[in-house]
Amino acid sequence: METVVSGIRSTGNLHLGNYFGAIKNFLKMQRENNCFFFIADYHSLTTHPKPDDLHGNIKQVLAEYLACGIDPEIATVFIQSDVPEVTELYLLLNMNAYVGELERTTSFKEKIRKQPDNINAGLLTYPVLMAADIIIHRANKVPVGKDQEQHLEMTRRFARRFNTMYSVDYFPEPDAYNFGKKLIKIPGLDGTGKMGKSEGNGIFLADTPEVIRKKVMKAVTDSGPTEHNQPHSEPVKNLFTIMNVVSDPSTIQYFKDKYSSCEIRYGELKKQLGEDIVKFTDPIRNRINEILADKKYMAKVVKQGAEKARESASRTIREVREIIGYREF
Ligand code: TRP
Repeated sequence: METVVSGIRSTGNLHLGNYFGAIKNFLKMQRENNCFFFIADYHSLTTHPKPDDLHGNIKQVLAEYLACGIDPEIATVFIQSDVPEVTELYLLLNMNAYVGELERTTSFKEKIRKQPDNINAGLLTYPVLMAADIIIHRANKVPVGKDQEQHLEMTRRFARRFNTMYSVDYFPEPDAYNFGKKLIKIPGLDGTGKMGKSEGNGIFLADTPEVIRKKVMKAVTDSGPTEHNQPHSEPVKNLFTIMNVVSDPSTIQYFKDKYSSCEIRYGELKKQLGEDIVKFTDPIRNRINEILADKKYMAKVVKQGAEKARESASRTIREVREIIGYREF
């Protein structure tokens, strides 16, 4: 069995793009691999969340993970900050990470531009902490999006460097797990680009039916086809892409035919799409609320996850300390 690690920062609610782009694949992987799925709450500190918000953010993402079907009896589901061993490995790896290479990281350069008033050292060493998250469980596969590829490459480099420095073959070099051709990119509702967290573009799993209907009715379209079998414009193509994951094939065909014969009414299409999204998200939303209300269950999941994750992490730390040269008195 291969070991899989993936994390998500607790900085906002999960949306349809997260579900179809990532979580659906976590669900497929959890049975065939030794999976560790965690909430990267240390990483969320780089943007200085308010103390009053921190716990709620963590809880929300955890409830969303579970509501989607990540099974804490099969996978190890945990909160990063419950596993302090990761901070020790982070410290140790920092000694072999060079400031120059960290400064050249694309995500760091982006942050310098976006938050010039808060260029903290945690941002600079973000990839080191991420590497520690992954190699502390000696993972082989890391299911992440394309935006994380450079971080994965750095993880491999840090693992290799450790092995070389101490002449051991200890850490595997993990690969970004690619979902192949089946990777679905869910577009946003604003006509261009992928679904994100920005207002009006994304649909959150926790959105109420009323909110979802409203958001979909406001989605960008075009002025309608004027010729038979005209190709779809980008905003229309986007609506069909979302339809493809939530609607029946016959419904999709119906609207495609209407489009081809120039009889489509976008209002009707959006109404249907809104209902089909609600049909998909509503059971998840109900489940999120049920889980959030069940404090005992959440506490149990978190405790069990922390125990399993710490068992794996502390073994690595023990062995790493030995390799580095720490000895008992
Ligand atoms: N950097 C990742 C993101 O922003 C989150 C993350 C932190 C992560 N540690 C990880 C992902 C370890 C995979 C493995 O999405």
